[in-house]
Amino acid sequence: MQILNIIRPDDWHIHLRDDETLTLTVPLAEQTFTRVLAMPNLTPPLTTVQGILSYRERILAIAKNTHFTPYFSVYFTNNLTAATLHEAKLCPWILGVKLYPQGATTHSDWGINDITQHFDIVSVMEELALPLLVHGEVTDNTIDIFDREARFIESVLIPLQQRFPKLPIVLEHISTAEAVDWVHSMPAHIAATVTAHHLAFNRNHLLAGNLRPDYYCLPILKQQHHQQKLQQAVMAKNQSQFFLGTDSAPHSQQKKYSACGCAGCFTSPIALPLLAEVFSLHNALSSLEAFTSINGAHFYQLPLNTQRLCLTQSTWEVPQNYSAGGDAFIPLYAGQTLSWQCQPTAGQPTHE
Ligand code: NCD
Ligand code: ZN
Repeated sequence: MQILNIIRPDDWHIHLRDDETLTLTVPLAEQTFTRVLAMPNLTPPLTTVQGILSYRERILAIAKNTHFTPYFSVYFTNNLTAATLHEAKLCPWILGVKLYPQGATTHSDWGINDITQHFDIVSVMEELALPLLVHGEVTDNTIDIFDREARFIESVLIPLQQRFPKLPIVLEHISTAEAVDWVHSMPAHIAATVTAHHLAFNRNHLLAGNLRPDYYCLPILKQQHHQQKLQQAVMAKNQSQFFLGTDSAPHSQQKKYSACGCAGCFTSPIALPLLAEVFSLHNALSSLEAFTSINGAHFYQLPLNTQRLCLTQSTWEVPQNYSAGGDAFIPLYAGQTLSWQCQPTAGQPTHE
């Protein structure tokens, strides 16, 4: 049996949600990840340092593993102030500001329409070297959904980066060859997160034969050649600008399996096994650790985790569903078999 022993991974883009849902998402996240960067698209969104600190308390009240460390980003709204940015910079748990183009995705209603109207704020971020985390899709309804990321790079991101060349930027959950090429053309303070599902799947998994809502997320899964380009980027030797952000985004079964189903793939329990499967298929297991456990820490100027995670090549069946707060949550790959699994970490210190 093949065994893979790596530095414990971090998840630099996760949706933990709030309230009872935390009783599901936090234990699942800490099974695999030492650090997570929790997204601020709650209702209402996380717009203040104080709001983030109380959210952090709600998460830590549930976490069992003493090493588990949640980090956060501030939601970029029309009301974001320079004072909040300065406060955020001083808070050790806040790593950046999250830009959602208004209407681009789940809970993005508080997002901004036009970044050029907020250059004063972006300029403070550049001075503070506070990273801008970007959901990179245009929202114009006349633009085809499969073209929205490429269009955003061309019309918003390139001009923004040229105007603020020192601003650290993370283009989140990239899904296209255009995004890979853009990041490759940029210096080290520009990076991208990549999800396990954008590496493992393409739009046929979502749309061919039957429509499978579990695979519906934003940015939407693209054609196979985009998937292959993402795979090459993360599996390349010595690459440092691409790191794991699962974008695990649970929605209740009721909200997901409906005539107006929510976008988001719930991947926390399968992310590492799925990645091991994809990397192994491409004989690239030796590149996995940099992607899951090193590059992101370097980007955010944090130390590497000292704990380790062991994956074994042994099959297991992904649970049909999980539950929290009276709702069912269907994980991506429910009921299917994966050929790698994470071993429980022996002797991991825990809160009492
Ligand atoms: C995310 C969610 O559900 O919060 N959905 C998604 O499809 N990825 C939001 C996001 O990151 O776009
Ligand atoms: Zn997300």
